Amino acid sequence: MVGIFDSGLGGLSVLTAVRGVLPLADVVYVADQSRAPYGDRPAAEVLQFAREMHDVMARRGTTTTVLASNTISNAALHELRRDHPDRVFVGLEPAVKPAVAATRSKVIAVLGTTGTIGGPLLADLVRRFAGDVAVIGVALPGLVEIIEDGLGETPHAEAFLTGHLEEPKRRGADVYVLACTHYPFAITSLRRVVGEAHIIDPARAVAVQVGRVHAATGTGRTVALTTGDPVRFRNQVAEVVPGLAFDAIETIA
Ligand code: DGL
Repeated sequence: MVGIFDSGLGGLSVLTAVRGVLPLADVVYVADQSRAPYGDRPAAEVLQFAREMHDVMARRGTTTTVLASNTISNAALHELRRDHPDRVFVGLEPAVKPAVAATRSKVIAVLGTTGTIGGPLLADLVRRFAGDVAVIGVALPGLVEIIEDGLGETPHAEAFLTGHLEEPKRRGADVYVLACTHYPFAITSLRRVVGEAHIIDPARAVAVQVGRVHAATGTGRTVALTTGDPVRFRNQVAEVVPGLAFDAIETIA
């Protein structure tokens, strides 16, 4: 079984892509909604939550765990791999390398939570891959909540983004990296703000990686577990990812 874990709805962008690659795999999606968002929390606290949610998934029989969140990957991927060398983990990292390859203006923007933009993973990627390209990290605290409220594709989100993306626009960024798995659910709003610029969503690349490490067989069941209210979760999914169906939605006790 594949476990896909995020604080809330963001990992659904990864789940959708994983389903495209592994339609028959059994998947459990875990959303720690009662403690979301994670993005402004200290890394040590995110790591503690990730350990707890990993144990929930392991008890359900997962063998591959996808940390479908840049914030969680930044805080916990290394530690979980070290603590569970017998298990497979797939994490996310800001797509700095492909963005550097794609830019012509030599200015790129990385959009993420406060934890991701200020974290060591992004700093390391910039050091290794940016070369002479300017990387503008833009933290967008508040956007996750807007998306969880079903408002990602509304004038409200567009106004929020307009207010936060003044610097990369002024400096001519021509590539925007989505370094938070929630942000694909505001992509139309973002497109309106950044015009023709290239937007990189890593979900498909992550799914391809999951397809490499996990067997393609199973019953194709998708179960969701939330620490929040399952009825609210069902309604949020219907609003944010219409057409995505779960075989069951349960509460994590
Ligand atoms: N979707 C997450 C990410 O990719 C976490 C959002 C949050 O909980 O703040 O960073």
